[in-house]
Amino acid sequence: MLSIGNIKLKNPIIQAALSGYSDRAMRVLARKFGCELTFSGVMLDSSACYEPLFKKPNYIIKDDEHPIGAQILGTNPETMATAAKNLHRVGYDIIDLNFGCPVPKVILKGRGGTLLQQPWKIMEIFNKVRDTVDCPVMMKLRIGMDNSEASREDFWDLCAKAAKQGVDGLIVHGRTVEQRYRQAANWQIIKELKKKFSRMTIIGSGDLFEPADIVDKFRSSGADGVAIARGAIGRPWIYAQIKDVLEGKKEIFQPGIKLQGQVVMQHFEILTELYDMRKCIGYFRKFMSQYSKSHTHIRKVRREFMTIKTEKALRQAIVKWYSLDE
Ligand SMILES: Cc1cc2nc3c(=O)[nH]c(=O)nc-3n(C[C@H](O)[C@H](O)[C@H](O)COP(=O)(O)O)c2cc1C
Repeated sequence: MLSIGNIKLKNPIIQAALSGYSDRAMRVLARKFGCELTFSGVMLDSSACYEPLFKKPNYIIKDDEHPIGAQILGTNPETMATAAKNLHRVGYDIIDLNFGCPVPKVILKGRGGTLLQQPWKIMEIFNKVRDTVDCPVMMKLRIGMDNSEASREDFWDLCAKAAKQGVDGLIVHGRTVEQRYRQAANWQIIKELKKKFSRMTIIGSGDLFEPADIVDKFRSSGADGVAIARGAIGRPWIYAQIKDVLEGKKEIFQPGIKLQGQVVMQHFEILTELYDMRKCIGYFRKFMSQYSKSHTHIRKVRREFMTIKTEKALRQAIVKWYSLDE
């Protein structure tokens, strides 16, 4: 059981926030394969203070998406609190504060991962948000700004403050901000963190790609849960596979070609409800590039989907490559 405040999940494997990916389509498909909690991609606090935003199809939370977390990015406690209030009001069940983003333009503005150097400032933001919304509030962290002693101290100081002041959960990506995606994620720190603050909900993140390895990282770290990120792009069935490993099944779920095709088609169809057709076709390419990796004709499939320009051609290609009935 994974507890995030008053939200209790039977399944400890959740879907991470993935900017540019984790919109309704990716989230609905994760749920289809047993994932019980998903997150929006990160939103800038000032954007989430602009209420007309929530009238756009991509920001409307339907009944089939609960529980769902919204992730926000910013430095001003007041603006972060207003953003959190708006997001909770439109249906998000959890607020996740991003203090891990390593993207240069975010860092330059003093947002995201930079704040790891100011634990007191993070707690100021957390306290203001927590006092404003009536739902669980979590934080997404990296393990420090860099590998320096000072950075490590800031990280442990922050975690101690978070535990003391009742943060509802930490999602910890086991890399420093400076590392971005280089080198292996450090799961030892996640293990130490859970050992040190055993009552705080800790969710591990980093290099979660293969079901058996994911279960191994989950169990050996002692974390309460793990958040799948890149490993779920174009592979929503990974949640069913992880469940099989967790349950000790000998046969791990493998999606047949037809099922893969149905998923691809459903993904595209949900996108058409969210965006105009031009955006859908271009945007869908990066998902197809990942979906194609599970197909026996990876290269041919990828090549064809990368050049498609119309809805009709896209649907025909899905039917053809995945042996779907027209
Ligand atoms: C394309 C992309 C977008 C991401 N967007 C976010 C985001 O919006 N918020 C966030 O907290 N982390 C974000 N992350 C980080 C992931 O949630 C995760 O912590 C990281 O990818 C490590 O997990 P992995 O190695 O299993 O992919 C993003 C990662 C990628 C690759």
